[in-house]
Amino acid sequence: MWQGSGLGAGTAVLLLLSVALLLPHLHLEGPEEEPPGSSMADTGTLPKLREDFRMQNKSVFILGASGETGQVLLREILKENLFSKVTLIGRRKIEFEEEAYKHVNQEVVDFEKLDEYSSAFQGHDVGFCCLGTTRSKAGADGFVRVDRDYVLKSAELAKAGGCKHFNLLSSKGADKASSFLYLQVKGEVEAKVEEFNFDRYTIFRPAVLLCNRKESRPAEWLARKFFSSLPTSWSKDHSVPITTVVRAMLNNLVMPSDKKMELLDNQAIHNLGKAEDVDKP
Ligand SMILES: NC(=O)c1ccc[n+]([C@@H]2O[C@H](COP(=O)([O-])OP(=O)(O)OC[C@H]3O[C@@H](n4cnc5c(N)ncnc54)[C@H](OP(=O)(O)O)[C@@H]3O)[C@@H](O)[C@H]2O)c1
Repeated sequence: MWQGSGLGAGTAVLLLLSVALLLPHLHLEGPEEEPPGSSMADTGTLPKLREDFRMQNKSVFILGASGETGQVLLREILKENLFSKVTLIGRRKIEFEEEAYKHVNQEVVDFEKLDEYSSAFQGHDVGFCCLGTTRSKAGADGFVRVDRDYVLKSAELAKAGGCKHFNLLSSKGADKASSFLYLQVKGEVEAKVEEFNFDRYTIFRPAVLLCNRKESRPAEWLARKFFSSLPTSWSKDHSVPITTVVRAMLNNLVMPSDKKMELLDNQAIHNLGKAEDVDKP
């Protein structure tokens, strides 16, 4: 949530300190009604649904499989053997040593010329998009190029290539009318992907992703430290472990749905992701 939002590390520190001071004065009790996702997570039928899904021999592509979320997603997809074919679409080949990865296909593409790589997007039933960069890493224009243009072009090619279920990793607070570039871009992309009219389109809106990120991102590191020091019920509103996001993605995947569009906010991700924890790395 912090990445690319235009906040420098110093501003982020000040914001976190202000929130810390305000927290004791806030009324933070959750709503009484059952939060979205919890009934699905508690059905106890997940193993059966997973088996049914496997039997359909579907194929999947993942964009951003070298990233923090994409890596965990790929690992769990392979562990659960959910698809008969797994393809990674990325700007570079990823080296894998483990046996489990030996049948993974890799399509190396130039995202600036994606139209020339339309064949990479052909014939996948399901797609997951975990692409993204930060404003501090790529600049404002670079961030928009990756998080909006690359994502939208990929979704367009995926739809043309026959993808039925597109899963988009977006962000808490995504809002095309936001004055924050990060949230505005996320909201705009969510809305534009919907126009591609996938049979099923699922948007995940996690808050700050909790993981041991290899890349140094000071503001995110601080946010993680801050949220992990809060009581669980508070930190759950503002953060979520990547393993929980992935669990929610895969639990949702195997649950048949007649909804054309599903939007899972941070609370729903926690609920759906709590059914079974994925292995910690
Ligand atoms: N971090 C958070 O707290 C947070 C919170 C909510 C939502 N999100 C969103 O969740 C998504 C995934 O986040 P993450 O932290 O898992 O991502 P990440 O670790 O930063 O990985 C990003 C992925 O995008 C690829 N990518 C980046 N720049 C690229 C470029 N110029 N061309 C082609 N590919 C490029 C990376 O490939 P390479 O390995 O080749 O660089 C990598 O596979 C992002 O959209 C992010 O905005 C993040």
